[in-house]
Amino acid sequence: MIDLEVVHIEETDSTNRWMKENGKQNDMVVVAEYQTAGRGCGANSWESERGKNLLCSVFIHPKNFQAKSQFIITQLVSVALCKAIEKFANKPVEIKWPNDIYVGDKKICGVLIENRLQGRMVKDTIIGIGLNVNQTEFKSDAPNPVSIKQLTGKDTDRDEVLKAFIDEMNECCRTRTCIADYKARLYRREGKHKFMTQDTVFEASLVDVKDDGRLMLEDEMGIAHLYRFKEVTFVIKD
Ligand code: BTN
Repeated sequence: MIDLEVVHIEETDSTNRWMKENGKQNDMVVVAEYQTAGRGCGANSWESERGKNLLCSVFIHPKNFQAKSQFIITQLVSVALCKAIEKFANKPVEIKWPNDIYVGDKKICGVLIENRLQGRMVKDTIIGIGLNVNQTEFKSDAPNPVSIKQLTGKDTDRDEVLKAFIDEMNECCRTRTCIADYKARLYRREGKHKFMTQDTVFEASLVDVKDDGRLMLEDEMGIAHLYRFKEVTFVIKD
């Protein structure tokens, strides 16, 4: 059972950074109204209008959790987010490998997980979540954003979305079905699609995601290839 203390703050540079400075030994979540330097994956920034979206970082200290199994954290969080968002968006929500949360071809939520290791174990994990809830105009060059409000036409209570997410994380821990649920929710899990490596665009079918997080694609010759994060991207039309 994940029991989280919830701390609300008005503004910070990045909730992940805030948690590194302020997180203690207990499991907790910090929720900010606004970030002055919200971080996306890699060098990307994260756009979010003040007071409109769910911007939070969850700090968890797993017990006896092996570093080699750390991709389960990505799977658990992604599945819980999909199930929670579906309750409010009333549309199927999928996971674009490894952990972008998508509705159709649009990104509704980004996740930035930072695991800290101690030897072979995961000491703690900071799970940063940027979920587009009530914002209706996006100004950055993020390619394909969408919010719950754009899908439903109405405002959603952000605290209720956070509560649904925490409940779903607990439910996933209880049922231990997150690996199967993750695979069943993968974006573009059926049919052939275009993918891109550094210099090549190619057609392939998504066949699996391995326990270590690598994506397995089968090319047109029926040959399987494994890719780590950033080694391959989906080609998505706007
Ligand atoms: C991505 O690029 O898809 C990841 C985006 C993660 C954004 C969230 S917003 C809350 C938390 N704090 C940050 O600085 N980033 C994450």
